[in-house]
Amino acid sequence: MKSYIKWIIYSLLIVLVGIQFIPTSINQQEITPYTDIRKVYTIPDNVLTILEVSCFDCHSNNTNYPFYSRIQPMAMLMDKHVREGKEELNFSEFGDYSDRKKRNKLFSIQNQVKDGEMPLSSYTLMHNDAKLTANEKKLIEEWITNL
Ligand code: HEC
Repeated sequence: MKSYIKWIIYSLLIVLVGIQFIPTSINQQEITPYTDIRKVYTIPDNVLTILEVSCFDCHSNNTNYPFYSRIQPMAMLMDKHVREGKEELNFSEFGDYSDRKKRNKLFSIQNQVKDGEMPLSSYTLMHNDAKLTANEKKLIEEWITNL
């Protein structure tokens, strides 16, 4: 092998091992706070399941971490998604939002789901079960319309 190729491979390996030491936070909470969306609205079981499977990893205080998501650089990516996702919409803190903000967020959920923007495609690549079927989209849409 040409020496510079070896050099590149060794460097990459060192970087890959090195980044494993970058700490990332774990987004998990034991309790269900009173501000949780489940305590704010009645959510039919089938809709709740959809939200839990497809949205809660990034939009709640409880993320399920499959083993690969604790390996860098995936852990950093997940961390970023959770931080940015919760900033925009946190189902665990929904009860703290003003009435106006609640309405806006529900409207935004309908739109993001209808347009296929959420869940993020980089996420459904690894979480096939999080992809929303046409019927699941309809269930979310109807639940919000009937609130
Ligand atoms: C992999 C993480 C991830 C998943 C899973 C995910 N989201 Fe998001 N979501 C984000 C991030 C990051 C943002 C902010 C940046 C952006 O809009 O791309 C966001 C933004 C949003 C917004 C915009 C909020 C606003 O006020 O404009 C809504 C609404 C939303 N998500 C709803 C959902 C719903 C509903 C689901 C499940 C069907 C879902 N998301 C699944 C990461 C995620």
